[in-house]
Amino acid sequence: MSERFALRADLLDFTGEPTLDDPFDAATSQAVRWRADHWLLVEHGRIVAVQAHDPPEGWPREDHRSRLVLPGFIDTHVHSAQLDVIGSWGTQLLDWLHTHTFPAEMRHADPAHAARAASTFLDALLAVGTTTACVFPTVHRASVEALFEAGLARGMRLIAGKVLMDRHAPAALCDPADTAQVERDCRDAIERWHGTGRLAWAVTPRFAPTSSPQQLALAGRLLASVPGLYVQTHVAENTDEVRWVRELFPQARSYLDVYARHGLLGPRTVLAHGIWLDEADWGALRASGAHVAHCPSSNLFLGSGLYDWPAARAAGVATTLASDVGGGTSLALRRTMLDAYKVQAMAQRRVSAFALLHACTRGAARSLGLQQEIGTLEPGRTADFTVWDWASEPVAQQRQQVARELHERLFAWLTLADERDLVETRVAGVTRYGR
Ligand code: GUN
Ligand code: ZN
Repeated sequence: MSERFALRADLLDFTGEPTLDDPFDAATSQAVRWRADHWLLVEHGRIVAVQAHDPPEGWPREDHRSRLVLPGFIDTHVHSAQLDVIGSWGTQLLDWLHTHTFPAEMRHADPAHAARAASTFLDALLAVGTTTACVFPTVHRASVEALFEAGLARGMRLIAGKVLMDRHAPAALCDPADTAQVERDCRDAIERWHGTGRLAWAVTPRFAPTSSPQQLALAGRLLASVPGLYVQTHVAENTDEVRWVRELFPQARSYLDVYARHGLLGPRTVLAHGIWLDEADWGALRASGAHVAHCPSSNLFLGSGLYDWPAARAAGVATTLASDVGGGTSLALRRTMLDAYKVQAMAQRRVSAFALLHACTRGAARSLGLQQEIGTLEPGRTADFTVWDWASEPVAQQRQQVARELHERLFAWLTLADERDLVETRVAGVTRYGR
């Protein structure tokens, strides 16, 4: 591929945070950056300019006129070893884990299986426009190594780490009781992967019920001892789970407090779900700078509950969007955005297409501390972006024809979410998916 190119399209990104429920107010207008028929200039994998006038001589040109270019999507919570359990019938969280998910994850102890699965998984992310993801592999070394190797080969930005579990799961998914050995293995892997290419390590206790207090303490030690690590886990997803955590950790004030007590809440902490939190939890989240990865498709599918996005916003806690496959039913964040809209609609609330798209791009980048690197089409950022058609079939074409303004077009586009709309996914300027 040429080391530089100029791409012509309609560019959409954000310079600020849109209002959650009003696509037309002044704050939203200021935050939305719509640059119709512009050129995006990319050199050595980075955006170097955005301009309305033609690029200089010597720049190879790509004409995507009247197509939409967006920053690559950022999926803040997804499981790479759960493609085999998407769409598993008839269970809620705790049953779903034991009946479907744990057996599927066990197979990732095998390096050949893990390698195949990691490649399939990352290619599937790219095929829906996701260029950055926070990923749970499994407890197995093979699964972590395969994921990072496949991410490195594709130049993707991944935040991931070995899943920590040492109880309430099948023995084949439990770490040895010898925490010193687990700690050595983690430190060794962190040394090799954290900061390699665009990869970062996340300390990943699966959720409070599957880690002993000793293991949570180990997670806290790891976090405190290596700069720049992330934490990812699940919190307050399902009411039976919340009750169980109360029994397991009677001294903690709440589920969230279990993590706080082990030093796991901070600005680089990504907490999936956060449906059943109380006022004090929201305050603790805000004070720590941690954020919630809202997983609407999973929450609907597993019957977990309706996330209160406005409450998070009012508390000053950021919300990003995540597929949570295999609990979620699609890796496509475009579908996830529509599910997030429906979750708010069920509670008589609204969220704009701008707020949804912001959560998947600039908002997620900021929450992960990566705003200088990804999330917008700003010069200096890595050229992670996607090229889309507004419509691919007659119903969507008709809908786009009658749409009167940008928000209407965008909301119809994400509602109809046809996979054929995605023309290309670029990672650091390189085409990693093309139709
Ligand atoms: N809680 C603990 N593990 C999981 C998981 O794999 N998926 C979901 N949705 N919730 C969890
Ligand atoms: Zn999950």
